[in-house]
Amino acid sequence: MTATKNEKLLAWVDEVVAMCKPDSVVWCDGTPEEYDRMTNSLVKGGTFIPLNDKTRPNSFYCRSDPADVARVEEFTFICSEKEEDAGPTNNWADPKEMKEKVAGLYDGCMQGRTMFVIPYSMGPIGSPIAKVGIELTDSAYVVVNMHIMARVGSKVLEVLGDSDDFVRGIHSVGAPLKDVKSPDVPWPCNASNKYITHYPETREIWSYGSGYGGNALLGKKCHALRIASVQARDEGWMAEHMLILKITSPENEVKYVAAAFPSACGKTNLAMLEPTISGWKVETIGDDIAWMKFDDDGRLRAINPEAGFFGVAPGTSMASNPNAMRTLHANSIFTNCAITPDGDIWWEEMDGDEPAQLFDWLRRTWTPGCGRKASHPNARFTTPARQCPVIAPEWEDPAGVPIDAFLFGGRRATTIPLVTEAENWSHGTFLGSVMSSEMTAAAAGTVGQLRRDPMAMLPFCGYHMGDYLAHWVKIGKKGEEGKLPKIYYVNWFRKNEDGKWLWPGFGENSRVLKWVFERCNGTAEAVETVFGRAPTKESLDLSGLNLSAEDLDVLLTVDKDALREEIDDMRAHFAKFGDKMPSELVAELDALEERLKS
Ligand code: OXD
Ligand code: MN
Repeated sequence: MTATKNEKLLAWVDEVVAMCKPDSVVWCDGTPEEYDRMTNSLVKGGTFIPLNDKTRPNSFYCRSDPADVARVEEFTFICSEKEEDAGPTNNWADPKEMKEKVAGLYDGCMQGRTMFVIPYSMGPIGSPIAKVGIELTDSAYVVVNMHIMARVGSKVLEVLGDSDDFVRGIHSVGAPLKDVKSPDVPWPCNASNKYITHYPETREIWSYGSGYGGNALLGKKCHALRIASVQARDEGWMAEHMLILKITSPENEVKYVAAAFPSACGKTNLAMLEPTISGWKVETIGDDIAWMKFDDDGRLRAINPEAGFFGVAPGTSMASNPNAMRTLHANSIFTNCAITPDGDIWWEEMDGDEPAQLFDWLRRTWTPGCGRKASHPNARFTTPARQCPVIAPEWEDPAGVPIDAFLFGGRRATTIPLVTEAENWSHGTFLGSVMSSEMTAAAAGTVGQLRRDPMAMLPFCGYHMGDYLAHWVKIGKKGEEGKLPKIYYVNWFRKNEDGKWLWPGFGENSRVLKWVFERCNGTAEAVETVFGRAPTKESLDLSGLNLSAEDLDVLLTVDKDALREEIDDMRAHFAKFGDKMPSELVAELDALEERLKS
């Protein structure tokens, strides 16, 4: 049944049907019954294996095609009208040419399949910060994941009404079923032909060939970051790759912190951390994306546009992230981890002993010591945010929460101290602009290599990175110092010369959050370094932590020699952005170089 009279929407759906030629069209209503129907059909089709209902109720296990396991940055395109608007860090293609190419691939690509129409809201339905999108997809896996990750269904169509203001997303796995006699495979995709294409001016997304994560769940990276970042620039707000957390002091004072880290650097862990310092509480608002707008008082208010967590599974445990483990107790989807003979999931570094036997993500028998990983390093869980035991009661407040501090960070084994505070917005923007991290498996690429990733937005900014940095500078000018969030740079990943982590991380990061909290209140001490203000040894709460004085010294110092060596690389990084590079940030780099001379 067609649940809308929106003519623009109906006409667009007709156009896509004519192009993709699905056998049928289903309008998703977003109900639990629809979810059950679809998970049942995924089980019947061999895509899902139901997990043991006693240990993991209403949850499903899924293995992708081994050729479809992560976001594919080399096949991700920003097709702005002008090449210079995509900038040097995005792949650009002419929108007309790219659409012709993808339309060629789309021609008949849904034959033998159903096309699902998924109306979704990024953000609480009806929030002044939320936005509507419609995803047309031939993947039932995408539908059930979108049920968890966004607010989907008829209510969204009601809010949309007759409006034309929605992001149009088309997604196909690129595997038509032409012949009824040849059965479908568990994970249809088009391994050798993937295109994730964005049209920022017309707010469109055309995705082809992949069924995995950010390539296919279009509300997340494609809409909430790439398209939304362009909308945010045009309309004067911010769409950022940031978690949002709430921290409450023993005196019951609350602050909200948003933090940007590149993919797979522990954002989910930080968002739901269990503080190790007594009396402090951390609650979650979001783990991946923040949309922020100035309110009437001039404060930046943030919403989490998502409704679920699509987290990296390996490494998640009761030790690293107990609240994620508790969130995953039911109603979740697990992709590319391992499955135990009694129908539960397992991944590397999960709690307890390694099971005696498993089936790995490639469907092979796995035993401890066999020399292979049982789960793919980018194996994921999809789980409802509302199940998180520490979700903040206000996480769906349509007005959002006022942000007090931003954290930037990445994985750096050397050079960068545990935490520093920027002197002001422009200095903080500079620190974010030179952010760097050793690469992980969230994107196909070279693991371990260092990459500069401004505000962790490199793979997600829908326009020229120089213009993006200028937008940050502009936001700083629009906001009032004192009302704008203070900015910090953190590094949980510093190692000593023997390669041992210097900082215990995880729940102990609450000590850094406490320092940030107290800095915002003007009550914690700091000392100047060339990279911002670092905590004095006394101002960081280290009670009960077995940290040697030597290790603490290294943790809180900038390795000036090593940083000096990086100046050329920072200049080369800025040079890529040509004359779009804001002069304010170049001045900050000059000042850093100057400071490093002494
Ligand atoms: C993610 C990512 O999935 O950043 O959140 O890759
Ligand atoms: Mn992310």
